[in-house]
Order: sequence, then C-alpha cells, then structure tokens
Amino acid sequence: MFVVGGSASQLLSKELAKCLKAKLANVEVRRFPDDECYVRIDEDLDGEDVFLVQTTWPDKNIVELFLLQDAIRQFEISSLTTVAPYFGYARQDKQFKPGEPISARALARLIQMQTDEFITVDVHSPFVIDWFDNVSAKNVPAYPSIGKHLKGKGIELILSPDEGRVENAKRVADIVGCEADFLVKERINGETVEMTPKKLGVNGKKVAIVDDIISTGGTIAKAADQLRKQGAARISAVCTHGVFAKGGLDKLKAVCDEICSSDTIENPTTCISVAPEIARIAQD
Ligand code: R5P
Repeated sequence: MFVVGGSASQLLSKELAKCLKAKLANVEVRRFPDDECYVRIDEDLDGEDVFLVQTTWPDKNIVELFLLQDAIRQFEISSLTTVAPYFGYARQDKQFKPGEPISARALARLIQMQTDEFITVDVHSPFVIDWFDNVSAKNVPAYPSIGKHLKGKGIELILSPDEGRVENAKRVADIVGCEADFLVKERINGETVEMTPKKLGVNGKKVAIVDDIISTGGTIAKAADQLRKQGAARISAVCTHGVFAKGGLDKLKAVCDEICSSDTIENPTTCISVAPEIARIAQD
C-alpha cells in the first residue's frame, strides 16, 4: 500500500502513511517556466492499493491532483482512493443566479473520473458526497481529532458560531467533557457577518469557538468580540479547515488567545491531524 502526497498535503500524507502502515511514495512536483505543473512518481505502484492525498484549494492544487491521478493510473494499480481533505468549492453548491455553474458538482464529477473511492473531511455541503455517483465517497468528521486536541486544556465551553453547526460543537464538548452553546449568525455577504447578541455565561471562563472553516475570519472575530464583552478569560479559535483568506489570520490573532486548525490545509496554525480518522474510515 502506498500514500502519494500532493504538494498541498505533505504533513497529512506522512501521518496517513503511518496510520495505514503504508509506504510514502517519492513524488516529484515542480513548475515549468510558464508555471504549468510537472509531476512524476518515482515508485513502482503495480499491484498496489494507492491513497492520493491532495487538498483541492487553491486552484493550482486541483490541476496537480488531476495530474497525479493520471500518473498513478499509468501503473497497474489494485485500487486508487483519492483523498481531498479540504474540498475547495464546497460552498458553491447551488446556482445562486442563472448562468452560474454548480462549482462543487463540477469538481466532484472530474475527480471521480479517475478514482475508485473518494474521501473528504468535514465537507461544507453534504451534496458533495452525492455528486460522486459512480464511486464510493465518504465524508470523515474531524470532531474526534478536535475533541482530543482540546481535552485536558481546561476548556469550559465549546461555542458554535451558528446554530447550524451546534451538533458538531456538542460532539466536541462531549469528548472534552464540558457544555456547548451557539451564537445566532446572519451572513450579509461573502465577507460580512452579523451576530445577534446572546448572553452566554462565560465570565471568567476558557472558551473554544469551533467551526468547520475559517475563511476571512469574520465569523470568529464577531464571536470572539461577544465573548470578550462578556468577560471570557481565554478564547481559542479552532477549525477543521484554516483558509485564512484576506489577512484572516492576523485579524484573529488580534482577538483570540489561541488559533488552531487541522492538517486538511497546511498553515502556521496547523496543530491537529485528521489522519487517524481518515485511516479509520478507509479501513472500515
Ligand atoms: C459557514 O457556514 C462556515 O461554517 C464558516 O462559518 C464560514 O465559512 C466562515 O467564513 P469567514 O471566516 O469568512 O467568516
């Protein structure tokens, strides 16, 4: 068994190889002078079960994924499981206006053409899994890894920034052994959110805000603002996918005591690995 790691998912590929007791493939990825991507797998994959791990964000990593799938398919492999730990475009899961694509579906259709199985993590839209209609597709929850990371750190409340994700916050809280609550959020546009003030009883408490994605950081910043005003002693922001677009990380450093994300997107805040959860689902 081999794990082939794309350049966007090096840390996770190494961890997954350990969890699966697989070999980590030697892969060359570089750019031509015109910035087109070159990949080469320096292994013999004939007869092997192969896991290809590559986050599909930003766009250049999508092309690299397709090239790696094609390179793997040049061997007589036993099976290919494509793991896109962060599924880019998952938030564009419907036509908001006539003339638009359903971007997440377009990506799903292309990925499934060259794989036998597909795995992603905390996918933002559940529709994504259904769009893999020719191959087995699974969505791995990150909450066990997040809960394990937060356990034993004295956290007294897990907060979901919106009601839609409160069940996930409760699952994390169950592992940590504390309460969960949620805020009431309204998205005005891609970069602006409003939050209805809500009494949370956090005076002097250590609180962790848990979300699936931090993109611009606007959601967490608004939540942290409410917590501060209500006297929270320590605020941690924890997410599965740390996108941190448009200076989002600096924005959060100013309002949170700790920022932590998983290895679905590698960035300076990555401190949780979802590899054990992916390995568990892969071996089911
Ligand atoms: C929204 O439904 C998601 O769960 C996140 O809350 C959202 O994507 C975060 O975006 P931002 O960091 O830009 O507020």
